[in-house]
Amino acid sequence: MLDEIKKISEEVSLKIKKIADEENLQDFRLEYLVKKGKIQKLFENMKNVSKEDKPLVGKELNILRSKTEKMFNELLVQFQTQKESTPDIDLTLPGRRGFTGHYHPVLNIMDKMITIFKDMGFTIAIGPEIEDDFYNFDALNFAPDHPARDMQDTFFIDDKRELVLRTHTSPVQIRVMQSQEPPIRSIMPGRVYRNEAINARSLAEFHQIEGLYIDKDVSFAELKGTLMHFARKMYGEGTKFRFRTSYFPFTEPSAELDITCFLCGGEGCRICKHTGWLEILGCGMVHPNVLKAGGIDPEKYTGYAFGMGIERVSLLYTGINDIRFLYDNDIRVLNQF
Ligand code: PHE
Repeated sequence: MLDEIKKISEEVSLKIKKIADEENLQDFRLEYLVKKGKIQKLFENMKNVSKEDKPLVGKELNILRSKTEKMFNELLVQFQTQKESTPDIDLTLPGRRGFTGHYHPVLNIMDKMITIFKDMGFTIAIGPEIEDDFYNFDALNFAPDHPARDMQDTFFIDDKRELVLRTHTSPVQIRVMQSQEPPIRSIMPGRVYRNEAINARSLAEFHQIEGLYIDKDVSFAELKGTLMHFARKMYGEGTKFRFRTSYFPFTEPSAELDITCFLCGGEGCRICKHTGWLEILGCGMVHPNVLKAGGIDPEKYTGYAFGMGIERVSLLYTGINDIRFLYDNDIRVLNQF
């Protein structure tokens, strides 16, 4: 019997050392300390112990029980205080980052373009989004029956059709000419509106940057040089150019600037419709009638102007394939840029 007690005592000492959590501890209790546990069993065996051995065996058994209970209780207290001091959070988890906003991809592109022109000495001018017919059309040498004035393109906002949501940023050219003496070197960013069906490639509301340079003896060569510098800075040094003749009422001669597609490098891809070229802006020498409308003497001064859309460039940069995603303001889309 004494051997038996010794064996259980050693077993208990060994097991208690291996207990790592409360669950194991409860298993330990079930094994030794409950009514059907191993220690109680030993007590039951007392009846087989001879009378003279009983006091010693009983003493040893009591020592075993109280030792086991003590170890159990100590460990229980230890686990419980541990639980209290360890809150239910994982302190090793990385912290949550605060939500920070950033510029919209369209504004980022505009910013980049503006910075390039600013570095060349252009100042920034802005004009109203609600324009009158004079600034949006007449002063820009649009004939009275020019189709751009048509209801299909223009949002008129009064019955007399005198006020419009500007269809381009070119009217700001006139306002700048009226308020400044040459030399004028300005860029005019802003929002413009056209009465067009909204689809994956076009919106009724978008952004342009206009450029205007007026001084004595400004030449088409300077226009080309400026735009080529801009395109290299904006789209990469290896960019190739193509000026195509074009027509705008407010410039003469007029041209459009194509650059080699900066996605495929001119090889041809879906974005450039397999031509290798992307059309990025319209430009030309300011028409004498426009200078006159702006109060500038066309005999003394010449100038160039250009205008470009921002959204299409933003699509190319972001890889977004539907222009509407730019303005749905879905944070899951905007967060990516
Ligand atoms: N205003 C023209 C457009 O909206 C662009 C342009 C601006 C062309 C200046 C020539 C000169 O398409």
